[in-house]
Amino acid sequence: MVQLSHLVGLRDLSRGDIVEILDIAEKLEDTCRGKVVSKILNDKSMATFFYEPSTRTRLSFEMAMLRLGGSVVSMADAKSTSSVWKGETLHDTIRTIDNYCDVIVLRHPDAGAAAEAAGYSKVPVLNAGDGTNEHPTQGLLDILTIRHEKKTLDGLKVALIGDLKHTRSTNSLTLGLSNFDVSFNFVSPSGFETSDWILDLVKSRGRKYVQYSTIQDALADADVVYVCRIQKERLGDPHLYDTIKGSYILDRKTLDSSITKDVTILHHLPRVGELATDVDSYPGAAYFRQPFNGVLVRAALLSIIFNRTP
Ligand code: NCD
Repeated sequence: MVQLSHLVGLRDLSRGDIVEILDIAEKLEDTCRGKVVSKILNDKSMATFFYEPSTRTRLSFEMAMLRLGGSVVSMADAKSTSSVWKGETLHDTIRTIDNYCDVIVLRHPDAGAAAEAAGYSKVPVLNAGDGTNEHPTQGLLDILTIRHEKKTLDGLKVALIGDLKHTRSTNSLTLGLSNFDVSFNFVSPSGFETSDWILDLVKSRGRKYVQYSTIQDALADADVVYVCRIQKERLGDPHLYDTIKGSYILDRKTLDSSITKDVTILHHLPRVGELATDVDSYPGAAYFRQPFNGVLVRAALLSIIFNRTP
Protein backbone atom coordinates (compact mmCIF):
# COMPACT_ATOMS: atom_id res chain seq x y z
CA MET A 1 0.00 0.00 0.00
CA VAL A 2 1.54 3.31 -1.09
CA GLN A 3 2.15 5.71 1.80
CA LEU A 4 3.21 9.30 1.37
CA SER A 5 4.18 11.76 4.08
CA HIS A 6 4.94 14.43 1.44
CA LEU A 7 5.28 14.41 -2.35
CA VAL A 8 8.28 16.38 -3.56
CA GLY A 9 9.10 14.42 -6.72
CA LEU A 10 8.63 11.26 -8.75
CA ARG A 11 12.30 10.36 -8.50
CA ASP A 12 11.76 7.99 -5.60
CA LEU A 13 8.40 6.50 -6.54
CA SER A 14 8.42 2.89 -7.73
CA ARG A 15 6.42 1.35 -10.54
CA GLY A 16 4.12 -0.20 -7.92
CA ASP A 17 3.55 3.16 -6.20
CA ILE A 18 2.67 4.84 -9.49
CA VAL A 19 0.30 2.08 -10.61
CA GLU A 20 -1.43 2.22 -7.24
CA ILE A 21 -1.86 6.01 -7.41
CA LEU A 22 -3.31 5.74 -10.93
CA ASP A 23 -5.68 2.94 -9.88
CA ILE A 24 -6.96 5.04 -6.97
CA ALA A 25 -7.32 8.02 -9.32
CA GLU A 26 -9.52 5.97 -11.65
CA LYS A 27 -11.70 4.84 -8.74
CA LEU A 28 -12.37 8.49 -7.97
CA GLU A 29 -13.67 9.34 -11.44
CA ASP A 30 -17.37 9.61 -10.53
CA THR A 31 -16.51 11.61 -7.39
CA CYS A 32 -14.31 14.00 -9.37
CA ARG A 33 -17.03 14.48 -11.97
CA GLY A 34 -19.52 15.33 -9.23
CA LYS A 35 -21.70 12.27 -9.93
CA VAL A 36 -21.05 10.80 -6.49
CA VAL A 37 -20.88 12.95 -3.37
CA SER A 38 -17.88 12.20 -1.16
CA LYS A 39 -17.17 13.39 2.36
CA ILE A 40 -13.98 11.41 2.94
CA LEU A 41 -11.93 14.54 3.70
CA ASN A 42 -14.69 16.64 5.26
CA ASP A 43 -12.58 17.42 8.35
CA LYS A 44 -9.49 18.33 6.32
CA SER A 45 -8.36 21.62 4.85
CA MET A 46 -5.79 22.35 2.15
CA ALA A 47 -3.80 25.53 1.57
CA THR A 48 -2.57 26.23 -1.96
CA PHE A 49 0.35 28.64 -1.75
CA PHE A 50 1.67 29.66 -5.17
CA TYR A 51 4.68 31.92 -5.80
CA GLU A 52 4.22 31.47 -9.56
CA PRO A 53 1.19 31.74 -11.87
CA SER A 54 -1.02 28.72 -12.46
CA THR A 55 -4.29 27.85 -14.14
CA ARG A 56 -4.58 24.07 -14.23
CA THR A 57 -2.54 22.96 -11.23
CA ARG A 58 -4.13 25.22 -8.65
CA LEU A 59 -7.72 24.91 -9.85
CA SER A 60 -7.56 21.14 -10.24
CA PHE A 61 -5.97 20.70 -6.79
CA GLU A 62 -8.72 22.84 -5.29
CA MET A 63 -11.45 21.05 -7.21
CA ALA A 64 -10.05 17.69 -6.11
CA MET A 65 -10.17 18.73 -2.43
CA LEU A 66 -13.68 20.15 -2.77
CA ARG A 67 -14.92 16.98 -4.52
CA LEU A 68 -13.63 14.96 -1.54
CA GLY A 69 -15.61 17.15 0.86
CA GLY A 70 -12.60 19.07 2.18
CA SER A 71 -12.06 22.82 2.42
CA VAL A 72 -9.55 25.08 0.71
CA VAL A 73 -7.73 28.32 1.44
CA SER A 74 -5.70 29.80 -1.36
CA MET A 75 -2.87 32.23 -2.03
CA ALA A 76 -2.66 32.52 -5.80
CA ASP A 77 -0.06 35.23 -6.04
CA ALA A 78 2.15 34.86 -2.99
CA LYS A 79 4.93 37.10 -4.30
CA SER A 80 2.79 40.19 -4.48
CA THR A 81 -0.15 39.68 -2.09
CA SER A 82 1.32 37.70 0.82
CA SER A 83 4.00 38.65 3.35
CA VAL A 84 6.53 37.23 0.90
CA TRP A 85 6.31 40.70 -0.67
CA LYS A 86 7.62 42.11 2.63
CA GLY A 87 10.55 39.70 2.60
CA GLU A 88 9.26 36.80 4.69
CA THR A 89 11.35 33.65 4.29
CA LEU A 90 9.99 30.32 3.05
CA HIS A 91 10.68 28.87 6.48
CA ASP A 92 8.61 31.47 8.32
CA THR A 93 5.83 31.33 5.75
CA ILE A 94 5.49 27.56 5.98
CA ARG A 95 5.70 27.58 9.80
CA THR A 96 2.81 30.02 9.73
CA ILE A 97 0.50 28.45 7.19
CA ASP A 98 0.88 24.96 8.66
CA ASN A 99 -1.26 26.37 11.50
CA TYR A 100 -4.14 26.95 9.12
CA CYS A 101 -4.41 23.69 7.19
CA ASP A 102 -3.82 19.93 7.11
CA VAL A 103 -1.88 19.89 3.83
CA ILE A 104 0.11 22.51 1.88
CA VAL A 105 0.29 22.58 -1.91
CA LEU A 106 3.34 24.67 -2.82
CA ARG A 107 4.51 26.16 -6.11
CA HIS A 108 7.85 27.97 -5.95
CA PRO A 109 10.43 29.30 -8.44
CA ASP A 110 13.42 27.62 -6.72
CA ALA A 111 14.43 24.03 -7.38
CA GLY A 112 14.44 22.22 -4.03
CA ALA A 113 11.92 24.53 -2.34
CA ALA A 114 9.34 21.77 -1.84
CA ALA A 115 11.87 19.43 -0.23
CA GLU A 116 13.04 22.28 1.98
CA ALA A 117 9.48 23.14 3.02
CA ALA A 118 8.74 19.47 3.71
CA GLY A 119 11.71 19.52 6.09
CA TYR A 120 10.08 21.99 8.46
CA SER A 121 6.35 21.82 7.80
CA LYS A 122 4.14 20.22 10.46
CA VAL A 123 1.73 19.08 7.73
CA PRO A 124 2.32 17.24 4.44
CA VAL A 125 3.70 19.28 1.54
CA LEU A 126 2.73 18.46 -2.06
CA ASN A 127 5.01 19.93 -4.71
CA ALA A 128 3.05 21.83 -7.37
CA GLY A 129 6.26 22.71 -9.22
CA ASP A 130 9.64 23.84 -7.85
CA GLY A 131 11.61 25.85 -10.38
CA THR A 132 13.22 23.70 -13.06
CA ASN A 133 13.26 20.63 -10.84
CA GLU A 134 10.04 18.62 -10.66
CA HIS A 135 6.27 18.84 -11.06
CA PRO A 136 5.28 15.42 -9.77
CA THR A 137 1.50 15.74 -9.90
CA GLN A 138 1.76 16.88 -13.53
CA GLY A 139 3.95 13.85 -14.26
CA LEU A 140 1.38 11.54 -12.69
CA LEU A 141 -1.53 13.06 -14.60
CA ASP A 142 0.46 12.76 -17.81
CA ILE A 143 1.18 9.09 -17.11
CA LEU A 144 -2.50 8.50 -16.33
CA THR A 145 -3.42 10.17 -19.63
CA ILE A 146 -1.00 7.92 -21.53
CA ARG A 147 -2.51 4.87 -19.82
CA HIS A 148 -6.03 6.01 -20.75
CA GLU A 149 -5.13 6.75 -24.36
CA LYS A 150 -2.78 3.82 -25.04
CA LYS A 151 -4.30 1.26 -22.61
CA THR A 152 -0.79 0.36 -21.44
CA LEU A 153 2.40 1.93 -20.10
CA ASP A 154 4.75 -0.72 -21.46
CA GLY A 155 6.26 -1.13 -24.88
CA LEU A 156 5.86 2.56 -25.75
CA LYS A 157 8.18 5.02 -27.43
CA VAL A 158 7.67 8.52 -26.08
CA ALA A 159 8.93 11.58 -27.96
CA LEU A 160 9.51 14.72 -25.87
CA ILE A 161 9.84 17.96 -27.82
CA GLY A 162 10.88 21.38 -26.58
CA ASP A 163 12.71 23.06 -23.72
CA LEU A 164 13.64 19.88 -21.87
CA LYS A 165 16.28 21.69 -19.83
CA HIS A 166 13.93 23.99 -17.90
CA THR A 167 10.61 22.12 -18.04
CA ARG A 168 9.83 20.49 -14.71
CA SER A 169 6.82 18.55 -15.98
CA THR A 170 8.93 16.63 -18.54
CA ASN A 171 11.48 15.92 -15.80
CA SER A 172 8.80 14.31 -13.65
CA LEU A 173 7.20 12.54 -16.62
CA THR A 174 10.54 11.05 -17.69
CA LEU A 175 11.39 9.97 -14.15
CA GLY A 176 7.98 8.39 -13.63
CA LEU A 177 7.85 6.65 -17.02
CA SER A 178 11.36 5.24 -16.62
CA ASN A 179 9.81 2.74 -14.18
CA PHE A 180 8.02 1.21 -17.17
CA ASP A 181 9.19 -0.46 -20.37
CA VAL A 182 9.39 2.86 -22.22
CA SER A 183 12.05 4.34 -24.50
CA PHE A 184 12.48 8.03 -25.20
CA ASN A 185 13.13 10.24 -28.23
CA PHE A 186 14.26 13.66 -27.06
CA VAL A 187 14.41 16.72 -29.30
CA SER A 188 15.17 20.26 -28.17
CA PRO A 189 16.79 23.43 -29.45
CA SER A 190 20.55 23.34 -28.93
CA GLY A 191 21.38 24.17 -25.31
CA PHE A 192 17.92 23.13 -24.09
CA GLU A 193 18.54 19.38 -23.76
CA THR A 194 17.36 17.13 -20.92
CA SER A 195 19.53 17.48 -17.80
CA ASP A 196 22.20 14.89 -17.12
CA TRP A 197 20.71 13.83 -13.79
CA ILE A 198 17.51 12.79 -15.57
CA LEU A 199 19.42 10.98 -18.34
CA ASP A 200 21.56 9.19 -15.73
CA LEU A 201 18.47 7.92 -13.94
CA VAL A 202 16.87 6.78 -17.19
CA LYS A 203 20.06 4.87 -18.03
CA SER A 204 20.41 3.39 -14.56
CA ARG A 205 16.92 1.92 -14.94
CA GLY A 206 17.93 0.27 -18.18
CA ARG A 207 15.77 2.49 -20.42
CA LYS A 208 16.93 3.59 -23.85
CA TYR A 209 16.85 7.10 -25.26
CA VAL A 210 17.95 8.88 -28.42
CA GLN A 211 18.56 12.63 -28.72
CA TYR A 212 17.42 13.88 -32.12
CA SER A 213 17.96 17.20 -33.78
CA THR A 214 14.73 17.33 -35.81
CA ILE A 215 11.09 16.89 -34.84
CA GLN A 216 10.52 14.73 -37.93
CA ASP A 217 13.12 12.16 -36.83
CA ALA A 218 11.82 12.08 -33.26
CA LEU A 219 8.25 11.49 -34.46
CA ALA A 220 9.00 8.72 -36.91
CA ASP A 221 8.58 5.74 -34.56
CA ALA A 222 6.78 7.44 -31.64
CA ASP A 223 3.61 6.23 -29.91
CA VAL A 224 3.27 9.29 -27.69
CA VAL A 225 4.39 12.84 -28.49
CA TYR A 226 4.76 15.34 -25.64
CA VAL A 227 5.29 18.96 -26.64
CA CYS A 228 6.37 21.67 -24.22
CA ARG A 229 6.97 25.38 -24.44
CA ILE A 230 10.20 27.34 -24.05
CA GLN A 231 10.26 28.39 -20.38
CA LYS A 232 10.84 32.05 -21.20
CA GLU A 233 10.72 33.19 -17.59
CA ARG A 234 13.58 30.84 -16.65
CA LEU A 235 16.07 32.04 -19.26
CA GLY A 236 18.70 34.37 -17.87
CA ASP A 237 18.99 36.28 -21.17
CA PRO A 238 15.63 37.71 -22.35
CA HIS A 239 16.90 37.97 -25.97
CA LEU A 240 17.56 34.25 -26.07
CA TYR A 241 13.83 33.60 -26.23
CA ASP A 242 13.43 35.65 -29.39
CA THR A 243 16.22 33.77 -31.09
CA ILE A 244 14.82 30.30 -30.41
CA LYS A 245 11.03 30.76 -30.32
CA GLY A 246 9.56 29.26 -33.44
CA SER A 247 12.63 27.06 -33.97
CA TYR A 248 10.46 24.01 -33.41
CA ILE A 249 6.73 23.93 -34.09
CA LEU A 250 4.53 20.87 -34.30
CA ASP A 251 1.83 21.58 -36.86
CA ARG A 252 -0.50 19.26 -38.72
CA LYS A 253 1.65 19.12 -41.83
CA THR A 254 4.76 18.08 -39.89
CA LEU A 255 2.70 15.59 -37.90
CA ASP A 256 1.03 13.94 -40.89
CA SER A 257 4.25 13.70 -42.86
CA SER A 258 6.34 12.28 -39.99
CA ILE A 259 4.30 9.72 -38.07
CA THR A 260 4.06 6.09 -39.08
CA LYS A 261 1.22 5.08 -36.74
CA ASP A 262 -1.53 6.62 -34.61
CA VAL A 263 0.03 8.77 -31.90
CA THR A 264 -1.18 10.37 -28.70
CA ILE A 265 -0.25 14.04 -28.46
CA LEU A 266 0.14 15.65 -25.05
CA HIS A 267 1.11 19.12 -23.85
CA HIS A 268 1.22 20.28 -20.23
CA LEU A 269 -0.19 23.66 -21.39
CA PRO A 270 -0.08 26.59 -21.70
CA ARG A 271 1.04 26.43 -25.34
CA VAL A 272 2.50 29.57 -26.84
CA GLY A 273 3.03 28.78 -30.50
CA GLU A 274 5.00 25.52 -30.41
CA LEU A 275 1.88 23.37 -30.95
CA ALA A 276 -0.26 24.68 -33.80
CA THR A 277 -4.03 24.81 -33.37
CA ASP A 278 -4.48 22.81 -36.58
CA VAL A 279 -3.31 19.75 -34.59
CA ASP A 280 -6.38 20.04 -32.33
CA SER A 281 -8.60 18.11 -34.74
CA TYR A 282 -6.17 15.15 -34.91
CA PRO A 283 -7.97 12.29 -33.05
CA GLY A 284 -4.94 11.53 -30.89
CA ALA A 285 -4.63 15.13 -29.68
CA ALA A 286 -5.31 14.50 -25.99
CA TYR A 287 -4.17 17.79 -24.45
CA PHE A 288 -7.66 18.98 -23.64
CA ARG A 289 -8.58 15.58 -22.16
CA GLN A 290 -5.37 15.66 -20.11
CA PRO A 291 -6.36 18.44 -17.62
CA PHE A 292 -9.26 16.48 -16.09
CA ASN A 293 -6.81 13.75 -15.12
CA GLY A 294 -5.20 16.39 -12.92
CA VAL A 295 -8.30 16.37 -10.72
CA LEU A 296 -8.17 12.57 -10.54
CA VAL A 297 -4.52 12.17 -9.54
CA ARG A 298 -4.64 15.09 -7.11
CA ALA A 299 -7.74 13.65 -5.43
CA ALA A 300 -5.98 10.29 -5.26
CA LEU A 301 -2.91 11.87 -3.65
CA LEU A 302 -5.00 13.73 -1.09
CA SER A 303 -6.82 10.53 -0.14
CA ILE A 304 -3.47 8.72 0.18
CA ILE A 305 -1.87 11.48 2.27
CA PHE A 306 -4.73 11.22 4.77
CA ASN A 307 -4.93 7.42 4.62
CA ARG A 308 -8.49 7.50 3.38
CA THR A 309 -8.29 5.86 -0.01
CA PRO A 310 -11.57 4.70 -1.57
C1 NCD B 1 3.46 23.96 -16.19
C2 NCD B 1 4.25 24.46 -15.02
O1 NCD B 1 3.91 25.43 -14.37
O2 NCD B 1 5.26 23.83 -14.75
N1 NCD B 1 2.11 24.19 -16.24
C3 NCD B 1 1.29 23.29 -15.65
O3 NCD B 1 1.37 23.07 -14.48
N2 NCD B 1 0.40 22.65 -16.43
C4 NCD B 1 4.09 24.19 -17.47
C5 NCD B 1 4.43 25.55 -17.92
O4 NCD B 1 4.25 26.55 -17.24
O5 NCD B 1 4.94 25.63 -19.03
